[in-house]
Amino acid sequence: MKAVTRLRISAAVIATLAILYGTLVHADHHADSASATDAPTVLITGANRGLGLEFARQYSADGWNVIGTARNPEQADELGSLPVEVAQLDVADAASIAGLAESLEGRPIDLLINNAGIFPRVNKLEEINFDDYSRTIAVNTLGPVRVTRALLPNLRLGDKKTIVNITSRLGSIALNDFGVYYGYRESKAALSMFTKTLAVELAPEGFTCLTVHPGWVQTDMGGENANLTPQESISGMRAVIQKLGPADTGTYWSYSGEAVPW
Ligand SMILES: NC(=O)c1ccc[n+]([C@@H]2O[C@H](COP(=O)([O-])OP(=O)(O)OC[C@H]3O[C@@H](n4cnc5c(N)ncnc54)[C@H](OP(=O)(O)O)[C@@H]3O)[C@@H](O)[C@H]2O)c1
Repeated sequence: MKAVTRLRISAAVIATLAILYGTLVHADHHADSASATDAPTVLITGANRGLGLEFARQYSADGWNVIGTARNPEQADELGSLPVEVAQLDVADAASIAGLAESLEGRPIDLLINNAGIFPRVNKLEEINFDDYSRTIAVNTLGPVRVTRALLPNLRLGDKKTIVNITSRLGSIALNDFGVYYGYRESKAALSMFTKTLAVELAPEGFTCLTVHPGWVQTDMGGENANLTPQESISGMRAVIQKLGPADTGTYWSYSGEAVPW
């Protein structure tokens, strides 16, 4: 066989292999996106550190589509290293919330976790700084209200229709027998009332609206003396969220699976 003919045959074989490879890669990629589409979607606020980051880690490891939000996505290195989508969101900024909602228009969200929060320690009435107090309410209470309202169309498109507001047992009026933490307690108690009112409104549509206490957890907020790791807290909260459904809407739970008194 002449050298030119051999060259032509080799070129044809390489071209055929390349087409075959391309088809296989495309089919594989298509299979990946199909399974990603079938998987449920969770959106987690404040997912760049602490409990939000661990929620993102565990749900993504479990095969969910995860949208993790951060105030500064360019600094959210740990979140960005996970197989998740990172979106910008400051829950105290109406324009930021509107931008997120616009970018997600028409996309189903199965589970919304309103996790972002702040905890200024204020122990006495006379120590209250009203700008800080307003900021606490703006982030911990108005934040979840605004985000939930903005993403309600997406949640209506989702199968699970679940909204989880991360609270604290410090938000329980029934359990408040030691005082302190002005502002934080009020912000979480108001979040509980929002959860309950929302649960009643959305019950006819099959929604599950919950408020969940994560326990005392080793994060920047909880400090190093806390008795739970983020892994333990999030595993517990995910089990609670998983087992509850529309019949349980408007209820208050601990990560450990016990009901918390309002
Ligand atoms: N850790 C505990 O022991 C404990 C106990 C009871 C309840 N909780 C509740 O659990 C939730 C998570 O707490 P954590 O321990 O993970 O706290 P954390 O380690 O302090 O993390 C707080 C998260 O919220 C974000 N965040 C703060 N302000 C925000 C805003 N305006 N917009 C968007 N994101 C904002 C932070 O983002 P940046 O990084 O940009 O600041 C960060 O991602 C909070 O709601 C908290 O109240 C925690």
